[in-house]
Amino acid sequence: MDKLSFASRAVHGCQGHDPHTGALSFPIYQTSTYVNANDDWPYCYSRVQNPTREELEKTIALLEEGTHGFAFSSGLAAVLACFSLTKTGDHILISDDVYGGTYRLIEQIWRRYNVDFTYVDMGDLAAVKAAFRPETVMVFLETPTNPMMKVADIAAVSAVAKERGVVCVVDNTFLTPYYQRPIPLGADIVIHSATKFLAGHHDTTAGLIVTQGEDLAEKMRLYLKTEGTGLAPFDSWLTLRGIKTLALRMDKHQENAVAAAEFLQNHPKVEKVYFVGLPEHPSYDISCRQASGFGGMLSFSLKSGAGVDKVLRGGDMILFAESLGGVETLITYPMTMTHASIPKEVREKQGITDRLLRLSVGIEDTGDILRDLEKMLSQNG
Ligand SMILES: Cc1ncc(COP(=O)(O)O)c(C=O)c1O
Repeated sequence: MDKLSFASRAVHGCQGHDPHTGALSFPIYQTSTYVNANDDWPYCYSRVQNPTREELEKTIALLEEGTHGFAFSSGLAAVLACFSLTKTGDHILISDDVYGGTYRLIEQIWRRYNVDFTYVDMGDLAAVKAAFRPETVMVFLETPTNPMMKVADIAAVSAVAKERGVVCVVDNTFLTPYYQRPIPLGADIVIHSATKFLAGHHDTTAGLIVTQGEDLAEKMRLYLKTEGTGLAPFDSWLTLRGIKTLALRMDKHQENAVAAAEFLQNHPKVEKVYFVGLPEHPSYDISCRQASGFGGMLSFSLKSGAGVDKVLRGGDMILFAESLGGVETLITYPMTMTHASIPKEVREKQGITDRLLRLSVGIEDTGDILRDLEKMLSQNG
């Protein structure tokens, strides 16, 4: 069965079961080293490769329609691996509304190595083109962005990158390959915080990279084994297990997110809802063209900042916590949490104010989510 559908492929993975024992649940190869049975033996040391990690890597490569997969200890380790493709003097174009941890990695660590970054609104193609320099080697986009849900046209930005001979990286954390596959649209590399929807249960941190072509794969392989940032066997297994139910979960996340977005839009205390599935979202047409769904993430601003703390902690079921993409609905305050390391003036320019809240809509009963939101909002203002 060559051409399994996405949902079946996610359930069955690459090999799916262990070819050596028949174990249906792919085993956790909890070993650091391997007996060297012959000169061609594929495993030597688990920092270099481990069969459980390898199964995950091959599975995500299949799902993203790329050629090679790589699993890292976190999403940020995957972002770091992409930056490692550059050298002193190089320049990277990156989304202006990038995840706060990526911003901190750039500003507090990576700039020390004299790699320059320009933050660009990736939805504005003219701005993207104008930001190129002779030293530009990479375009790195998040789409939709965290937390303002800005959307970039992946095919158009990838084409611009290709024309100039630079690598195009897409952070596909929010939509996952179930809804969006950047590589067939022209990107060279896809990265994930697999901590989120892919693993899906708020029980592990993991990062994934999928590359297209042997050249980039060779570089990634060297980087992963040399820096030692590979994902541990147990976390690889948890991520594989999460991926099995990705299709089902994403459908429910989306159904609930659409209901929550409509509810919030009509709520008198809410100023604005940021959700790519709303027809009034400025890039709704692009989303419909390049993705088969809108996902489970939304942000909203309140008309008044009074009592925000009570709103955040006021749910019976919805939990006030960092992170996203798991089965439980979480509410986050980007200003003091995910985007705290971004200077106030930069943050506020993007719309990340003291009235902006982010919701990762889980897979609970829709009515329960809406009732809890109503209760939380009643404590505002
Ligand atoms: C879009 C995006 N990319 C990357 C990351 C970093 O992933 P991790 O927390 O797994 O290191 C995050 C984390 O929230 C994220 O939201």
